[in-house]
Amino acid sequence: MNTKRLSAKVEKALSDQMNKEIHASHIFLSYGIWADDKGYQGIANFLYRHSQEERNHSIKFMEYILNRGGKPKVAAIPAPPADPKTLTECFDGVFKHEVDNTTAIYKIVDLAMEEKDWATWNFMQWFVQEQIEEETLAQNLIDKLKIAGGDRATDESLFTLDRAMQSEPNDVPLAQEATGSNP
Ligand code: FEO
Repeated sequence: MNTKRLSAKVEKALSDQMNKEIHASHIFLSYGIWADDKGYQGIANFLYRHSQEERNHSIKFMEYILNRGGKPKVAAIPAPPADPKTLTECFDGVFKHEVDNTTAIYKIVDLAMEEKDWATWNFMQWFVQEQIEEETLAQNLIDKLKIAGGDRATDESLFTLDRAMQSEPNDVPLAQEATGSNP
């Protein structure tokens, strides 16, 4: 008996999104390594935690597909983009990737609605809400850097910003405590 409760199209869209979240995780990991190498350890720490959060999002998609009788497919992940050249470029990149991810999430919501797959539509609402928070977080990064002086910020104000980022709230205070259902 076929117990799959997802259409092939929805299953593929969710599986692609599972891989896209891993791509986002790699992008923030690479940004974190760039920041760490530049000596911005607080910013790096924030980006590493954000990278882990994206991985947890991926696992959330994986679990949902499996729970609905489908089978997610792990795909090759494209390499992250080139390192940013400045903190402004780094934070702008974080915002751009979040908006890009929101667009992908909305497409799955559209598809679920089109197919009247209300279970998937309901599942996706968690991500719609999450993207509001993540875009706000990215906007706040850009604002904080602007206040510090942007690319012309003094070493002193960047030092203060970096320290503040160390304790910036994040959904993943400790990676080992996060799970797919509680990312
Ligand atoms: Fe998983 Fe930043 O969205």
